[in-house]
Amino acid sequence: MMPETAPLSAAEYAATRAMLEWQIELGADEAMLDAPISRYAPVEAAPEAAPEVAPKAPAAEALAAPVPVDPVAEATALAAAAPDLAALAEAMAGFERCELKRGARNFVFADGNPAARVLILGEAPGREEDLEGRPFVGPAGQLLDRMLAAIGLSRNTPDAAAAVYITNVLPWRPPANRDPEPEEIAMFRPFVARHVELVSPDLVVLMGNPACLAGLGQRGILRLRGRWAEAFGRPALPMTHPAYLLRNPAAKREAWADLLALRARLDG
Ligand code: URA
Repeated sequence: MMPETAPLSAAEYAATRAMLEWQIELGADEAMLDAPISRYAPVEAAPEAAPEVAPKAPAAEALAAPVPVDPVAEATALAAAAPDLAALAEAMAGFERCELKRGARNFVFADGNPAARVLILGEAPGREEDLEGRPFVGPAGQLLDRMLAAIGLSRNTPDAAAAVYITNVLPWRPPANRDPEPEEIAMFRPFVARHVELVSPDLVVLMGNPACLAGLGQRGILRLRGRWAEAFGRPALPMTHPAYLLRNPAAKREAWADLLALRARLDG
């Protein structure tokens, strides 16, 4: 039940509304909790219990300074230890070094057929993907499905020759769909590399700059697009992201040329 509160005066209402509009302007697009959390408030100390016996001398290991954990090294070790896709998903979902996990609703791993010849690598879940826990289900995903259908590919077919497998660089939605930070891409790169290794596709499509950064170590999608490269040990085709195509319909012409290049490569 909501706690009872005194009604706001007209001035308080106007000030509260202005504050909310300002937050929306800054990119906040969802209310996640009824009350804000202060990350800076001191943590309440637990009540001290009187020791009944004299405390023992701490063990030598406990005295050693904590070793800072390198998120990329930790991700690399976790990814290498995953023998299959289910284990990889579990390792990624349990990886605590990325703050995005705290703000996301759902873990978004992959969709499509793991036996597919083509793996599509996107950027990160958006609002719809975060709600549904599946990659590319919003407007950009619907356009992606139409683009793939135009060259005879689908995420929903059991036929490996006509199937695609879809995943993202990040499995957690960045707040207000901001671009992934280079550090976030770096810490998930080992998981992406293992993901590609386990699916073992013939070809990889890098959709947009974050995918190019993860796969090729460089961005500049408008320069890279349509030029075959190598990513994660596979032939890789950088393409403009469907979200970009929705904002810039004129770029669909080049995207169509890239799709035809993908089809031709599949047809050998
Ligand atoms: N954009 C992406 O890159 N991935 C998604 O899953 C959705 C939108």
